[in-house]
Amino acid sequence: MIEAEDLWKLYGRVEALRGVSLRIGSGVTGLIGPNGAGKSTLIKIILGLIRPTRGRVRVFGLDPWVHGEAVRMRVGVLHEKPMFPGWATGYELLRFVARLRGIRNPEKEASEALRIVGLSDAGDRSISGYSAGMIQRLGLAQALLGRPDLIILDEPTSNLDPKGRVEMLEAISEFRRESGSSFLISTHILPELERVCEKLIILHSGRIIHQGTLRESASKYYAYSITIGSDNPMELMKHLRGLKSVRQISIRNGEVKLRTSDPKSVMDALKEISGLQTSYIREEPGILERIYLEATRKLD
Ligand SMILES: Nc1ncnc2c1ncn2[C@@H]1O[C@H](COP(=O)(O)OP(=O)(O)OP(=O)(O)O)[C@@H](O)[C@H]1O
Ligand SMILES: [Mg+2]
Repeated sequence: MIEAEDLWKLYGRVEALRGVSLRIGSGVTGLIGPNGAGKSTLIKIILGLIRPTRGRVRVFGLDPWVHGEAVRMRVGVLHEKPMFPGWATGYELLRFVARLRGIRNPEKEASEALRIVGLSDAGDRSISGYSAGMIQRLGLAQALLGRPDLIILDEPTSNLDPKGRVEMLEAISEFRRESGSSFLISTHILPELERVCEKLIILHSGRIIHQGTLRESASKYYAYSITIGSDNPMELMKHLRGLKSVRQISIRNGEVKLRTSDPKSVMDALKEISGLQTSYIREEPGILERIYLEATRKLD
């Protein structure tokens, strides 16, 4: 879907991108990295809104700077800070965008998009009266309009309350299942991204420092964290310590805690240990956070 080769972007003397090469295929890809890493710059280049200083990018085989309109017809976008005309209603805005994008049956699509993001009841109110979270939802709605092949979301859950965040993620997952659209999602909220993303790109100071599936990444950075309760934690630790896939093993509060590149190898080893009772095994959440911290640890 997206291919980039040695992309550079300079804003005066600021090097926002420094030789980015990537391929983004179908599925849900997470784009993460610290503030100022170049995420939004990369997204704008993909959409043909700004021109790379150097390098090559193709979106659906097209150069977005030359064929920006064609690319933007096929890609739904939620920008970092969405801005909409306050005088229009949510429904009117969506219908307008649907027409602009040449979507068939704009009225029906606009209502459907409002429903998906949970804004049906507010569709007839003018946008000037929307809360920040409602504007964010409206932004997602216009990105989903017409079920584009690719949907790019820059910070989709900022401004949302806890319930809104969960709903936003559910809306994305459900939409993905139903429409088969692919997503590129940039966010700082890693536990949320972890729930939806299949692939990962980590940008840091304008460079890609890691790229892979979530599973490959978790394995590479020993990001699975496991807690085991047992009648003899010391003995258990002795057994598991020798495994190649295990790192940072310790006993805390009477539980054995470890990081591993391969949870299955730990399970298999547990089965083979005789004379030891394991009462519970827990996989801790936060895989993506551990991948991120590990990948960026020596760079900051
Ligand atoms: N229009 C611009 N003019 C000058 N510098 C810019 C411009 N846009 C971005 N930059 C600079 O380029 C770098 C990358 O910015 P970018 O917005 O792409 O980062 P980001 O990864 O999206 O960050 P954030 O997580 O804060 O959204 C930053 O140093 C930023 O200051
Ligand atoms: Mg940004």
